[in-house]
Amino acid sequence: MGASIATVEVDGAQPYRIDIGGGLLADSARLGRHWRGRHALVVSDDQVAPRYADALEAALARAKPQARIARFVLPAGEASKTLDTFAGCIDALAALGATRDACVFALGGGVVGDLAGFAAACWMRGIDCVQLPTTLLAMVDSSVGGKTAIDIPAGKNLLGAFHPPRAVLADTDTLRTLPARELRAGLAEVVKYGAIVDAPFLDWLEANADALLAMDAAALAEAIARSCAHKAAIVARDPLEHGERALLNFGHTFGHAVEAEQGYGEGLNHGEAVAVGMVLAARLSTRLGMADEHDALRLQALLERFGLPTRMPPGLDPQALVARMRLDKKAVGDGLRFILWDGAGRARIVAGVDEAAVAQLLATT
Ligand code: NAD
Ligand code: GLY
Repeated sequence: MGASIATVEVDGAQPYRIDIGGGLLADSARLGRHWRGRHALVVSDDQVAPRYADALEAALARAKPQARIARFVLPAGEASKTLDTFAGCIDALAALGATRDACVFALGGGVVGDLAGFAAACWMRGIDCVQLPTTLLAMVDSSVGGKTAIDIPAGKNLLGAFHPPRAVLADTDTLRTLPARELRAGLAEVVKYGAIVDAPFLDWLEANADALLAMDAAALAEAIARSCAHKAAIVARDPLEHGERALLNFGHTFGHAVEAEQGYGEGLNHGEAVAVGMVLAARLSTRLGMADEHDALRLQALLERFGLPTRMPPGLDPQALVARMRLDKKAVGDGLRFILWDGAGRARIVAGVDEAAVAQLLATT
């Protein structure tokens, strides 16, 4: 990818920056700037670590030759976002002798970022975490905004903390090894920004779909920077999700229910489940008379162009999915709460949605 680095600033009580570009994992000066102490734990998974962890650790060692650097590697995939793996990560921090100024470097996709970020949030009540996202999804969404979590049997991401990263370095060179399915999953979250707040971005995505699918560097860099700018602006205004930030969950109430019901790591991955969920949210909006059907069809067509699923996987029980949605973090005791839209680029929070209408939609999609 190109040598130029794009930067997006995230304002707030703990401001930080997102750097986007090639070669960042080997940039020891830049890595060192965000690392205060003398201990570093590199957290990664068994697909990413063999490709990138040696180079990262070499860059860290160049930045601080006297430092202690350790590595914790988890099995790739959502099934690793568990209490057991979290405990393993905490044990790795203990074995390292990590002090309060230690830094966790989260090298991987959203699974690594969420788990490593949560470990950093908990160790000694909070140490630094630098997010080094290697999936498109993590670059445009999970590495930014400070949400960290693990899954428990009762639901996805139910155990977690808000813990903003010290910095995000998105090395776009890593996308060269990303499986095509994971690229598409990331595109689902890119589409989400257009759907919720930026209808012209949907036009741009339609016009640049082929370039994005072909991993054209300039198109990807623009999609990442534009997505990060949206996420940065929203989380700066509402870091703890008291309001507007919930819009980022468009499609997620449905998607999380699907992920939990099918079993974490089985069937659809997160981005795919969100794609299905966004189409369901758009269709529910149409059924409730909020939005024109044309917008839902256009969203569906764009997601399908990106090779994403837009229908419920077979065999899932609508009532069981509705029961999952009651436990969703967006539910606040006033019935089902969804992010719906008044049309492309105009999402809003809708409370008290009738469960029967949702179950009927699920049964017919
Ligand atoms: P993931 O972390 O499971 O990564 C997907 C797969 O790609 C894994 O097998 C991984 O090993 C592999 N991989 C990663 N980078 C690679 C590379 N450069 N080359 C080759 N293989 C690579 O999944 P994801 O889609 O990145 O993240 C999904 C997770 O993110 C979910 O758990 C979701 O809940 C979470 N998430 C969190 C937030 C947040 O705000 N914290 C937002 C969105 C999603
Ligand atoms: N991905 C949803 C959020 O960060 O709020």
